[in-house]
Amino acid sequence: MNSTVKSVEAHYTRQGLERIILTALNEAGIDFDRLKAEDLAPIDQFHIGGRKFTLEFARQLGLDETMHVLDVGSGLGGASRCLALEYGCQVTGLDLSEEYCRVASMLTQRLGLDSQVSFQHGNALDMPFADGTFDLLWTQHVAMNIADKTKFYSELWRVLKPGGKLAIYDVLAGEGGSVHFPVPWACEPDNSHLLSPQQLRNRLEEIGFEVLSWQDATAKGCAWFANMNAKINQKGLPRLGIHLLLGDEFRLMAQNQVRNLDEGRIALIETIMQRPS
Ligand SMILES: C[S@@+](CC[C@H](N)C(=O)[O-])C[C@H]1O[C@@H](n2cnc3c(N)ncnc32)[C@H](O)[C@@H]1O
Repeated sequence: MNSTVKSVEAHYTRQGLERIILTALNEAGIDFDRLKAEDLAPIDQFHIGGRKFTLEFARQLGLDETMHVLDVGSGLGGASRCLALEYGCQVTGLDLSEEYCRVASMLTQRLGLDSQVSFQHGNALDMPFADGTFDLLWTQHVAMNIADKTKFYSELWRVLKPGGKLAIYDVLAGEGGSVHFPVPWACEPDNSHLLSPQQLRNRLEEIGFEVLSWQDATAKGCAWFANMNAKINQKGLPRLGIHLLLGDEFRLMAQNQVRNLDEGRIALIETIMQRPS
């Protein structure tokens, strides 16, 4: 494993995460024996807009129960389970963090979804899947940690079936200047690699993808984040939230995110691409 990969994995690794989550669920009064997927939404949707944005974006994809989806950088698996539950599709999640994959599998088993959703530890730059395996690829808030974008999007192209779609929801560079750190995906600039929207589009088109839809989600993401921050400032941290994954720096990261969005230092894009048949 090279040092960049190690440092990204270290950023997301929280020792004892399973215990931290189980304790927080218990303190929040959630009966683990009657756990529902929605109960996990505050912790298992690690992207701006959470479960709401996942559901809205997924509606545009034409998913059904015949499809096999790959969730690239699946984190704790919230989106993977959401897609499987909403559309009946098979979902494989791939993530660099072994701990996230372990916790994602535990939560999936607890929800009785393990015949439909599974997780594999691995690097998106060298995926353990044959060419043309998946009907649809889904990736949310992952590419910010990946420097070699050409390799990343070429790997996505390789494992996608001809005619298949690629759904991306990512954080990109805005025009307002450099990012305030720390942010949820990186404590320092070394682990942060943001393209501008135009650079992303060019990169994907050079590889051969065709744009089916391209939406700027910055304004709605900014409103969502500002609302979450206002609640935290008023009532303090909730029992369940992304701070359980990110630890003590979370509040500063969240404040920086609002500034980065407000000042146009980052942008959010939701795009659907197609690998032509
Ligand atoms: C901000 S989290 C988003 C997780 C998930 N997509 C979600 O929205 O809940 C970023 C995730 O990308 C994963 N990741 C970063 N670089 C990766 C790589 N090269 N290969 C696979 N996963 C990667 C991290 O381990 C982390 O789980």
